[in-house]
Amino acid sequence: MSQDLDPVGKPMTESGVLGGSGAMFDRIAGRYDLLNRLQSFGMDQGWRRRALKSLELSPNHYMLDLATGTADLAIMAARRVPGLQVVGLDPSPAMLEVGRKKVTDAALTEHVELVEGDAQSLPFESERFHGISMAWGIRNVPDRDRALDEMKRVLRPGGRFAILEGGEPEGFLVGPTGRFYMHHILPQLGAILSGAQEYKYLPDSIAQFPAPSEFCAQLEQVGFHEVEHQALTFGAARLYTGRRL
Ligand SMILES: C[S@@+](CC[C@H](N)C(=O)[O-])C[C@H]1O[C@@H](n2cnc3c(N)ncnc32)[C@H](O)[C@@H]1O
Repeated sequence: MSQDLDPVGKPMTESGVLGGSGAMFDRIAGRYDLLNRLQSFGMDQGWRRRALKSLELSPNHYMLDLATGTADLAIMAARRVPGLQVVGLDPSPAMLEVGRKKVTDAALTEHVELVEGDAQSLPFESERFHGISMAWGIRNVPDRDRALDEMKRVLRPGGRFAILEGGEPEGFLVGPTGRFYMHHILPQLGAILSGAQEYKYLPDSIAQFPAPSEFCAQLEQVGFHEVEHQALTFGAARLYTGRRL
């Protein structure tokens, strides 16, 4: 790989600014699903279901799953809403390769298309999609405003978005234990299981993400309406929803 990496394994451009590629995820694609289940204690699919339900999709609708990775959410959507057409977009060829195999195994190739691309510059015409999801992807995007503008551009008027992100667990008992797991156990577990150091970046990238109130304000500033935030499982996951008018 010729691209330089910053200290947490994210790709950098020549100017030293973080780039928007999925280079880091190329290296862990083969183990990503296993790590995802382990790190969330198997709760990640339940969180995806919550996100999907909030999109209020119907058969014959078009859905876009940004940062689709290995396509778990795209596949879940096509299974739960028969007739839905889903496009999953991600810059990591290796994650998409794993995803394409899963789509084929699920016999969903007519309903799920996976394309290589960057959320900051979407290769779709305006107002194409009835719903847009992005699960654990927005924190990887260097220019968040640009990605949110693009999301709004390709969403139909009245269409809904659902963004899932990680969070710092809260609560009197769960909070300290959850945060200890997240900052001390999870990075080691990820490094051992993936055979790579990439998972060490995770707690820092979650901690650096704006607080829920700040991110909701950013979503409103971009022009989304009915913006809401829900803390799932004591805040270990955060669901942001809203609508384009
Ligand atoms: C933590 S994974 C999430 C994958 C999937 N959404 C899921 O539910 O498991 C983050 C994904 O974001 C992708 N990503 C990184 N930069 C991106 C960008 N600029 N635009 C879109 N996706 C990006 C990575 O390639 C990776 O597949």
